[in-house]
Amino acid sequence: MRIDIITIFPEFFDALDISLIGKAKQRGLIDVHVHDLRTYTYDRHRTVDDTPYGGGAGMVMKPEPWGEALSEVLRDSDAVHEQDTALSQVEAGAEPDATCAPLLLVPSPAGTVFRQPVAHEWAEEKHIVFACGRYEGIDERVIEWARERFRVVPFSLGDYVLNGGEVATMAVIEAVVRLVPGMVGNPESLVEESHSVAGDALLEYPVYTKPAVWEGREAPAVLLSGDHGKVARARRDWQLERTSQRRPDLIENLRTARLSKHDVAT
Ligand code: ADE
Repeated sequence: MRIDIITIFPEFFDALDISLIGKAKQRGLIDVHVHDLRTYTYDRHRTVDDTPYGGGAGMVMKPEPWGEALSEVLRDSDAVHEQDTALSQVEAGAEPDATCAPLLLVPSPAGTVFRQPVAHEWAEEKHIVFACGRYEGIDERVIEWARERFRVVPFSLGDYVLNGGEVATMAVIEAVVRLVPGMVGNPESLVEESHSVAGDALLEYPVYTKPAVWEGREAPAVLLSGDHGKVARARRDWQLERTSQRRPDLIENLRTARLSKHDVAT
């Protein structure tokens, strides 16, 4: 998977060299390119923002640097596609896939909320581009222009406002890259996680490890019983209890999903 990030704070993404993502880079599973938006400005102050038409608070990101940055990423993407096409022709002797526009992800509090099932979908992508806006956002004409060249998805991390898209981009990269085929030894382990299946998502159960007693607190006896059936039932109960307390909305989704399944069956 190729990942391009356009930002005015490229140093934010130095952290991609550590931990699991760093390993994915070293192993060649992901290829990350960070672009400084100010490279595409030509004035002395390298200006990327201006006052909003129609008035109001804050500043808006100017369209010209975005147009240039995204065009450069598109040129690189064509090169990636040509290489892949040549490779698949050589390897399989098969017809290459139809050209697929890169996915352009735009972090914004006005986007649709990013959830785990979407992370699974995005983990299958060949080329993802992140457009990290700051201030009050990017001139909307950039998004319209980009829709003719990319598959554009504005996404939000949740119902709160960050200062810019960089932290949201880091969060999505971490959620997606760990699901890229070849990243984890045992892909089964990903199925058990919180939020992994749409409409059937319970929070994970609490976990314990050695020592059996710590600060006078015992690990639950059932986990040391060796009875796998009992362990599985206890964990399911803890999941339900925790989910009802912390995320009653998920229990409601579960009910609705079961009811509609019943509707289909009858
Ligand atoms: N940029 C600003 N706030 C954001 C949010 N909640 N999610 C994604 N990007 C953002």
